[in-house]
Amino acid sequence: MQAKIIAIVARDRNNIIGANNDLPWRLSSDLKRFKALTMGKPMIMGRKTWDSIGRPLPGREIIVLTRDTLFHAEGAHLAATPAQALATAQRLAKMMQTDEIIIAGGGDIFRAFLDYTDRIEITEVALDTDGDARFPDLDLSQWEKIHHELPARGPKDDADFHYVTLERRRKL
Ligand SMILES: NC(=O)c1ccc[n+]([C@@H]2O[C@H](COP(=O)([O-])OP(=O)(O)OC[C@H]3O[C@@H](n4cnc5c(N)ncnc54)[C@H](OP(=O)(O)O)[C@@H]3O)[C@@H](O)[C@H]2O)c1
Repeated sequence: MQAKIIAIVARDRNNIIGANNDLPWRLSSDLKRFKALTMGKPMIMGRKTWDSIGRPLPGREIIVLTRDTLFHAEGAHLAATPAQALATAQRLAKMMQTDEIIIAGGGDIFRAFLDYTDRIEITEVALDTDGDARFPDLDLSQWEKIHHELPARGPKDDADFHYVTLERRRKL
C-alpha cells in the first residue's frame, strides 16, 4: 500500500510561512507538535528549508529536493525532482513501517506537492508578518476540515495559534 502524503505547515493570517529563510515566529508548542507528528516518518523538504534547519532530525529520514547535482546534505537523501522524492519517500516509508510521508516545506515544496497531498496539518498563527515565503492558496472546495483544536498558548509561544486538519475531499 502507498503511504499517504501529509503536509505540515504553520502559516500566518496572510499565508506567510517564512522570512529570510527562517520562521517569522517562535512557537515552542508547535515545534513539539511538529516533532510528534513527524517522528518515525520520511520527510520531504526543499533545499532552502534544509539549509535553515542545518542538520538531520533524529528519528526521521529527510529527502532534500534540489536541482543542484553537486549538492551534498550530510545525513539526508537527495532528490532532483518531486517524482524522485516521492519514490524515495515511499521506499523509506516501507522500511520505517509507516503509512505516512511528510511534506515539510517550504513554499516551493508545498506548491510542488499540493496535488499529491492527502491531508494538511495547519497551525494557524494569529499574526500578520512580513515574509517572503508563502503557503499556496487552497481551493477550499477540494478540502474538508476534519479537526479543529484550540491549544493553550505556552510561555515560549510568540502568538496565539490553533490547529486545523484538512483532508482532500474524495471524488464521488
Ligand atoms: N512555517 C512553516 O511551516 C515552514 C515550513 C518549512 C519552511 N518554512 C520556511 O519557508 C522558507 C523556505 O521556503 P522556500 O519556498 O523559500 O524554499 P524551499 O521550498 O525550502 O526550497 C526551495 C528549493 O528547493 C529546490 N526545489 C524546489 N522545487 C524543486 C523541484 N521541482 N525540483 C527540484 N528541486 C526543487 C530548489 O533547490 P536548489 O536551489 O538547491 O535547486 C529550490 O531553491 C523559509 O523561510 C523557511 O523557514 C516554513
